[in-house]
Amino acid sequence: MNPPTRHRILHLSDTHIGADGHDEDGVDAAAALDRILHDARHVPDLDLVVVSGDIADDGSLDGCAAARERVGRFAADRGIPHVYCPGNHDTRRSFAAVLGSGHLAADGTDAGELADPAAELRTAVSVVRGLRVVTLDSLVPGAVHGVLGDEQLRWLRSVLDRPAEAGTVVVLHHPPIALPSSPLMASVNLRDADAFAAALAGSDVRAVLCGHYHLQVSGFLAGVPVWVTPGVVTRIDLTAPPRLERAVTGAGATVVDLGGPGSPMFHTLHARDPRAGRQVYLVDAVSGVDVPAE
Ligand SMILES: [Fe+2]
Repeated sequence: MNPPTRHRILHLSDTHIGADGHDEDGVDAAAALDRILHDARHVPDLDLVVVSGDIADDGSLDGCAAARERVGRFAADRGIPHVYCPGNHDTRRSFAAVLGSGHLAADGTDAGELADPAAELRTAVSVVRGLRVVTLDSLVPGAVHGVLGDEQLRWLRSVLDRPAEAGTVVVLHHPPIALPSSPLMASVNLRDADAFAAALAGSDVRAVLCGHYHLQVSGFLAGVPVWVTPGVVTRIDLTAPPRLERAVTGAGATVVDLGGPGSPMFHTLHARDPRAGRQVYLVDAVSGVDVPAE
C-alpha cells in the first residue's frame, strides 16, 4: 500500500488561558477557544490539531488543563491526535504535568517521543499517518524572545537525517521570520533563526508552523514555508500606525493542507464573534506605554 500523502492540520496558537479562564488583559480566553473550536466544527478531513504555544497565559496548571480539555474534546470527537509546544507564557513544569511530551493521541495517551526524557525541554516527535510531527521548545524563561540552542538543533538535524514517509512538519512558538516594518517582531522572534535554517536546509520539512505574533504572516526559511497563525485569544491589528501595537478580539485559526496540489496551502478561519474587532489594548510598540483609544 502506498503511504498516505495528504494531511490536513488545524493550527491553533496563543490560547492564553489563565487559571481563572482569562488572559492578563481581561479577555475571556477560554470562551475565545470555545468559539473558534465551535466554528471549526465543519472543517472536514482533519488529521491533527496543533497548538503552537502560549497555552496558559500565566503558566498555570489550570490554564494548560483548560486548553487540553477543550482541544482534547474536539480531537477525541474526530479520533485525531492533538499536539502542543510551549511558548514564552508557559512554564515547562505545568506543560509537562498536563501535556507530557505535548503529543497526545485521540484518547489522551501520550504518543510523543521526547528528545531527552531526562531534560526539562519539551522537544518531541511523533508520526501521524506517515507525517512526522516535530515540536521544538524555544521558551526562554522570563524572556519574550525565543532560542532553540545547539543541543536541540543537533537533535533536530539527527531526526531529519532520515526522511519520513510523508515528510515532516516542525512546530515551534517563536517565528524565525519578522516583518521588516515591525521592530517589535524582530525583538521578540527566534534569535537563532540562522542555525535553525541550516538544520532545515535540504530536509524533508514541508512547513514550519509558529504562533506568538497573534497575526497571520508567511515567509520562507531555507526554502521551507513558514506560517504564523493568528492568535486564538486576540489578534494584532496591523492597520494601527507602525509605531503602535493594537490588539483586538476575534479568535483565528489556520487550516494547513499538506500533500495536495499547491501544497503546502494555508487558509485562515475567523470565529463568528459579534465582539470581533473590539480593541483590547493599544500601546506604543517601543516604550510599551498605553495609548488612549483612537
Ligand atoms: Fe508568545
